[in-house]
Amino acid sequence: MKFPENFLWGAATAAAQIEGGYLEGGRSPSIWDNAPAKKIKNGENCHVACGFYHHWREDVALMKEMELKSYRFSISWPRVMPKEGKVNEEGLQFYSDLVDELLKAGIEPLVTLYHWDMPAWVDAYGGWEDGRITAFFLDYAKAVVEKLSDRVQYWITFNEPSCFLMNGYMQGVHAPFKRHYLALPKFTKIFMKTNAETVKLIRKIAKKQPKVGLSFAAGAFIPKNESDPASVEEARKKTFYKGMGTMNNRWWMDPILLGAPVSAYGVYRNGGKRVKEFKCDFDFIGINHYEAFNYSFFGGDKGVDRSKLRQNSLGWVIDERSLYWTVKFNYERYRVPIMITENGVALEDKPNKNGKVEDDVRCRALEGFLINLDRAIKEGIPVIGYQHWSLMDNFEWAEGYEPRFGLIYVDYKTGKRTLKKSAYVYKDIISTNGENI
Ligand code: NOJ
Repeated sequence: MKFPENFLWGAATAAAQIEGGYLEGGRSPSIWDNAPAKKIKNGENCHVACGFYHHWREDVALMKEMELKSYRFSISWPRVMPKEGKVNEEGLQFYSDLVDELLKAGIEPLVTLYHWDMPAWVDAYGGWEDGRITAFFLDYAKAVVEKLSDRVQYWITFNEPSCFLMNGYMQGVHAPFKRHYLALPKFTKIFMKTNAETVKLIRKIAKKQPKVGLSFAAGAFIPKNESDPASVEEARKKTFYKGMGTMNNRWWMDPILLGAPVSAYGVYRNGGKRVKEFKCDFDFIGINHYEAFNYSFFGGDKGVDRSKLRQNSLGWVIDERSLYWTVKFNYERYRVPIMITENGVALEDKPNKNGKVEDDVRCRALEGFLINLDRAIKEGIPVIGYQHWSLMDNFEWAEGYEPRFGLIYVDYKTGKRTLKKSAYVYKDIISTNGENI
């Protein structure tokens, strides 16, 4: 198979998960730096993480060795704005140097403005539950776009709103660890307003013609019988109206991509007259995808025996067909070009006695997911890139450092990096533009 020309083959990371240096270069703590030890597995924290803040040149060299065409990374808000009203030049310069190094290596930078590491000072105002966050975020976004947009073209405003808002403000499993179930409509609207204004701001001030998107944690139900039209129709419907389909896909995507309100479970409503203001004309949407909704504990198929299925080390089922159905159903409904901004597999990788990391499960899943992506592309769906999650092993939020998602193995004690077998498999795929899969 051959992928489209100029397909953006890349890998993704997020600042809080890799950078460390949490009080260096003028940075102040984020809500994740301040997470109580008991909220994170093994009492770990992200203060040092992979030390990307110091290793970044070496890491860009590894990306070049893997022949990546793109690298998706996020900017740390508290590095750029360590306190209210203060722009930290040193923080901005860090990202500016990184962008230069990437471009020198022929790698397209894909910048995410918000990947969950809200500054603690913004949280003190109420975070996403207080409308003042919009102005704070726009100040920050302005500083970043002014600094980088002469070289950066791809902008992802937010990463997975469903996760950072529902996990952070309803389930209490992610920072800032709140359980305000009934506040969902309120913080959804504050977020959507902030997002829409950020998109406008980028379009207004960017120096290089911007391509703007947002990364959704999107998914789909795989039809029970993939060749039966009635079964496909049933899966399509559930993908937007059942369990995760409602709360993970439609609740976020309908207002933002269609300007259409959503109500759910009789108590949640994100509409009102203002919903039209939330609509954004994106150049692409980012899809982060890992697991089919069929296997979800929230409204998934009944009677699934996960122990009989292939799972990653977090217990997520690996069924690569779900990438095809996710891309297909979401494109049919929203009609915006798609970039896969995350997809991957967590494993408990370890180097063998020769120092090699033989992550065969990841290699096989990578090819399986790409075969399914190709299936969607062959049907004419515009897919502009694939960013594997993750470039390197990193801090998996409340799960700490145990689940390893990287193409690059990181020894957290020494900071040493080792390309895993999957990194070489991916390099081969990239250099042949997918022809060898
Ligand atoms: C979702 C998030 O965007 C990312 O930060 C996380 O590490 C991966 N998916 C894996 O859970």
